[in-house]
Amino acid sequence: MDVFLIEGGRRLDGRIRVNGAKNAALPLLAACLLTDERVTLREVPDLADIRNMVRLLAELGCHRTNEAEAPSVLSLRTDDPALSHARYDIVRTMRASICVLGPTLARRGLARVSMPGGCLIGDRPVDLHLRGLRALGAQIELDSGDIVASAPGGRLRGARIFLGGPNGSTVLGTANVLSAATLAKGTTTIECAACEPEIVDLARLLTAMGARIRGAGSPRITIDGVESLGGADHAVMADRIEAGTLMCAAAITNGDLTIENCPLDSLMAVVDRLDAIGVDIDVLDESDAGGALCRVTSQRMLRPVEITTQPFPGFPTDLQAQFMALLCLAEGNSIITEKIFTERFMHVPELARMGARLLRQGSTVVVSGVRSLVGAPVMASDLRASASLILAGLAARGTTVVNRVYHLDRGYERLDERLRALGASVTRVDEKESAA
Ligand code: EPU
Repeated sequence: MDVFLIEGGRRLDGRIRVNGAKNAALPLLAACLLTDERVTLREVPDLADIRNMVRLLAELGCHRTNEAEAPSVLSLRTDDPALSHARYDIVRTMRASICVLGPTLARRGLARVSMPGGCLIGDRPVDLHLRGLRALGAQIELDSGDIVASAPGGRLRGARIFLGGPNGSTVLGTANVLSAATLAKGTTTIECAACEPEIVDLARLLTAMGARIRGAGSPRITIDGVESLGGADHAVMADRIEAGTLMCAAAITNGDLTIENCPLDSLMAVVDRLDAIGVDIDVLDESDAGGALCRVTSQRMLRPVEITTQPFPGFPTDLQAQFMALLCLAEGNSIITEKIFTERFMHVPELARMGARLLRQGSTVVVSGVRSLVGAPVMASDLRASASLILAGLAARGTTVVNRVYHLDRGYERLDERLRALGASVTRVDEKESAA
């Protein structure tokens, strides 16, 4: 297993481009199951989760047709629409496999998808996905750990659906129901739909494939079902979480980063908090194709702030851990409350090993700023917790050893190399070498 060795205390300086978004690409890939025609996706990040999804699609009869091309361009085409089983072997490696449920059921009238299990960031039920698909007429039962869904007569039918849960809307639940409704008979309205930009990106692809969708990006999405969908060519949106992580990296190292392809429109809550902390974001060019070109610099003194995670357009849970690392070095007490995944605090004890002063009460953490963090061996857990520890390591005095970086590799493409190009000292080594 690989670990990162980080020599902290180096300012990041330079220019970096944001990659396509993993969390947009996964449901976009699943949407390829809705048609027998070729769908080409561009700007796809080269990540373990994406490779797993491509493997899963192949098991469902939808194959990559351009193996020779770069991994950032994926052309996929279904040649065997009879396959409908997403096996536990793959699903257990990646919860987002649940994205294939809606498209498979809608196109094939039948889907068998292994039920995703627990996850490091807490309980992650799929009841809302199932509720939405049932409202579309699906019959669903559990069999040997699999969700078995069928559409009576082979086709789903439009319905009015309330998709809110105890913590608000669901992103992948909305993606599943939205995708499924494109091929249903009649009109579907999803109320309390997720407003995340990744849903807007999915609606853009589906529309290019011939779907009739209104209201994506708002809490009410209306879909007029069509008989069939065709092929399309689509560029994946820029990754707002990667962009936010890079902004934190600039801020925590007192650096100076110019970020290309930065999806600023999707980062309003994040920019608001960075502004309150004392991080400057100058927009150099708003019209940089796809995203903005912006420069991130920070004042030496970071101010403490309150942060509460919320569904979009609120502050994203996927940046909570990274901001916690940053606020460890602010002058005073910050308060961070996690409202989406209330147990998502695996990074707290690890940051504490580096000298952070953190007090957790339920889903709230009080962060008392310290003058400096100290390098230490730490354990990466989930993807965003790993990013948080790397940020802390970039700023800490001495050497930080981040173990189990495979979690990081699921969501950040070659982050070690990209940070090195900006002046960081980050080396990827095998666990055994680091112990030597
Ligand atoms: N929820 C339910 N029932 C459901 C589904 C969700 O109660 O059927 C609850 C969840 O427990 C949570 C809330 O609803 O409290 C929101 O969860 P959501 O369904 O929106 O999460 P998700 O769609 O499974 C995606 C991202 C996550 C991101 C969340 C929230 C992907 C592949 N994953 O998950 O990303 O944290 O939305 O924005 O898009 C990450 O990238 O590190 C990551 C975990």
